[in-house]
Amino acid sequence: MHSLDGKVALITGAAGGLGTAVTKAFLEAGATVAGVSRHIRPDQVLHPNFTAFPADLASGEAARKLTAAVTAQLGRIDALVHVMGGFAGGHSVADTDDATLEQMLETSVATGVNVTVDFKRLTVAEFVQYILDKHHVYTREAMERLDALVKKVVKAHGENHSELLEIRDLMQQLFAELKGHMFKEEQILFPFIVELEQSVLQQRPAPFAPFGSVNNPVRMMMFEHDHAGEILRELRKLSSDYSVPGDACMSYQTLYEALEAFEQDLHQHIHLENNLLFPQAANLEVAIHIQPRINADGRG
Ligand SMILES: [Fe+2]
Ligand SMILES: [Fe+2]
Repeated sequence: MHSLDGKVALITGAAGGLGTAVTKAFLEAGATVAGVSRHIRPDQVLHPNFTAFPADLASGEAARKLTAAVTAQLGRIDALVHVMGGFAGGHSVADTDDATLEQMLETSVATGVNVTVDFKRLTVAEFVQYILDKHHVYTREAMERLDALVKKVVKAHGENHSELLEIRDLMQQLFAELKGHMFKEEQILFPFIVELEQSVLQQRPAPFAPFGSVNNPVRMMMFEHDHAGEILRELRKLSSDYSVPGDACMSYQTLYEALEAFEQDLHQHIHLENNLLFPQAANLEVAIHIQPRINADGRG
């Protein structure tokens, strides 16, 4: 396991020479990186855990928008690395004109202050709450809406489009699995992870785990995520990438649009759990087991 697995780092100035090197080092250490600079492109760094966020941080408002966008997409921000800066070379400071000096200070200092003021590290408990509020609530609402919608569309078009019957059956299978899956996360795994964090923070012994290591339920959840991913792939195939046939009515179109939005949200939801929350849970479990030993050695 890498030392930064499950962490999200926001790196400003990520498109520059130094910023690119820092970004690569964070990615190699296992972090998910939000790379920021004025003109950064998605292909600036080719890595599955890299996301480009073009932004100009000259104002506090822009910095607030940036941190909100990163949190919405990646769920959290654990570390801020402010690399952004600029220096107009060629003259001593005494010979630099006021406008250039002001611009240098703005690029090098003000951007850092703006983004730091708005930077807030989420606890694991807050991150869990974020996943519940943003993704579990949405998933439940969307499943209810989609279930009614697909029944309506099958009734109107099922005879001419037999693939709709398969789509309906797969959706119902996916929804039933997701309901059970989210129930287990909400009732067992997430409360345990939150308790684990509390125990580490307060240097208490590990909470009782009927399932042994936290990695056991995590493995089960990841297996279920993979299965949900397989069903989503099958749905995409059956619906020809969610393209509606020529004779489709408005409900047909709404169904495909809503199903595609559901797919996107579920991918993001699974990404946050698999790549960010679960590695943090594993790290907490390691931390709680080495903590008493450090104290016993008198080095803690
Ligand atoms: Fe979940
Ligand atoms: Fe999940």
